[in-house]
Amino acid sequence: MKVLLLGSGGREHALAWKIAQSAKVEKLFIAPGNAGTQNVGENVDIKADDFEALKNFVVENGVDMVIVGPEDPLVKGVYDDFKNDERTKNVPVIGPSKAGAVLEGSKDFAKQFMKRHSIPTAKYETFDGTTVEEGLKFLETLKAPYVLKADGLCAGKGVLILPTLEEAKKEFKEMLGGMFGNASARVVIEEFLSGIECSVFALTDGKNYKILPEAKDYKRIGEHDTGLNTGGMGSVSPVPFATKEWMQKVEDRIIRPTVEGLAEENIEYKGFIFFGLINVEGEPMVIEYNCRMGDPETETVMLRLKSDIVDLFEGVAEGNLDKRAIEFDERAAVCVMLVSGGYPQTYAKGYEITGLDKIEDSVVFHAGTKMQNGKVVTNGGRVIAVSSYGKDKSEALQNSFTQAQKIEFTDKYFRRDIGQDL
Ligand code: AMP
Ligand code: GLY
Repeated sequence: MKVLLLGSGGREHALAWKIAQSAKVEKLFIAPGNAGTQNVGENVDIKADDFEALKNFVVENGVDMVIVGPEDPLVKGVYDDFKNDERTKNVPVIGPSKAGAVLEGSKDFAKQFMKRHSIPTAKYETFDGTTVEEGLKFLETLKAPYVLKADGLCAGKGVLILPTLEEAKKEFKEMLGGMFGNASARVVIEEFLSGIECSVFALTDGKNYKILPEAKDYKRIGEHDTGLNTGGMGSVSPVPFATKEWMQKVEDRIIRPTVEGLAEENIEYKGFIFFGLINVEGEPMVIEYNCRMGDPETETVMLRLKSDIVDLFEGVAEGNLDKRAIEFDERAAVCVMLVSGGYPQTYAKGYEITGLDKIEDSVVFHAGTKMQNGKVVTNGGRVIAVSSYGKDKSEALQNSFTQAQKIEFTDKYFRRDIGQDL
C-alpha cells in the first residue's frame, strides 16, 4: 500500500524509518519531510497543514493511509477535513479528530476530562480575564512552587513554574494580558507535583488500545536538568521505575479510563495518545496529554517496537486493534540529540553536517536538516538524533556518545548526562 506521513522532525524520521520496514508498504511519502526522511521514502513539498494540497496529492497518487506526526494539523482538524471530503473520506487518517486533539489543544479541557473520569492529576482551577482576582486568591491557597499553564498550544513554552507567590501573581497577570497571545486568554493554575516524569504511549482504534514501550525525555538544555526548556535533548527506554506493577496502575487508572472516557463522550479518536506522567511516591499521575507521539521519545520507542507498525495502523483504521500482535525488543534504546549552539535561544542555520556516513551501530534520525547544493545542512535548533541499542542503558548510551562525536557541524552541542538520573 501507499502511505503518506505528515511532518518534518526527528519524530517523523523515526516513524518513517519504522513504516518503511513494513512488508505491507510499497511506497512511503513524507510531507514535507527533511534530509533524513528522503533516505527511507519520498519527500513531498507540501506543508503538513495545507489540507487542500494534501488531499489533492492523496487522490492523485492513490495514497491508502495518512499518518499524522505533529499536533498542529490534528488540532486544526486534518482528520475531519479528510473525512468530510467525498474524495478522501475512505482514506484512513491515523490521528484523532479535531474534538480528540483538544486533549492537547486545551489544558483546561484535558483537566476537566480527567476530573470527569476520575483520572489522577494535580488539583487545579482555570481563570480568564474576568476572574483575575479569584485566580490571585487561588494562588494564595497553594504552596510554592506555582504552576501556571496557558490553556492553548504554545509550542511547548506555555508552562511556567515559579518559585515565589509574588512572581506567580505577576506572571499570572501577564499571561492573561496576552503573554502567549490568545493561547493564554485562559490560564490553568495547578498544584505542583514532585517526582520523576515518564512518557507512556498508547495507540487506540477508539475502543481497543495497545501500550507502546515507555520512555523518559530530557527537556532542559543544560546537564543535570538546568537552563531553559527545549523540544527535547534525549530520551531513554525502558524507564526503570516503570515496573510491571507501576504500568498496571497506569493502565487501570489512566489509559483505560481515558480510552473509555473518549468513547463515552463520543469523541472520535483513532491514533496515538501520549500520557505525560509523573511518579509521585509510587503513584502515577497525569501532567498532560498529547494527541501524538513524543519527540524525542519516538526516536527510542520505534527502536523497541518489534512488530510491524503498519499492521497496527491497519488495526486502528479497521477497529480491530485487539486482533493485532505487539512485541517489544528487550534491549534498551536511547537517543542523544545534537543541537545548534545557542538553541533554544538564537542560533544559526545552514552549517554543513559531516560524518553521517561514518556512523556504525547507531540509527541517525534527522530532526532539523535540509539538503542544500547536494549537502546536508543544519536547519533547526535540534539537528540530529543519535539513537542506539544496548544490552542495557549504559551500553546504549556509550554507543550513542561514541557515534555523536563523529558527526560534526559548527557549534554542535549535546548533553552528556542523558539517562544518568535513572
Ligand atoms: P507540559 O507542557 O504540560 O508538558 O509541562 C511542561 C513541564 O512542566 C512538564 O514536563 C513538567 O516538567 C512540568 N510540569 C507541568 N505541570 C506540572 C505540575 N503540576 N507539577 C510539576 N511539574 C509540572
Ligand atoms: N517530549 C515531549 C513532547 O513531545 O511533548
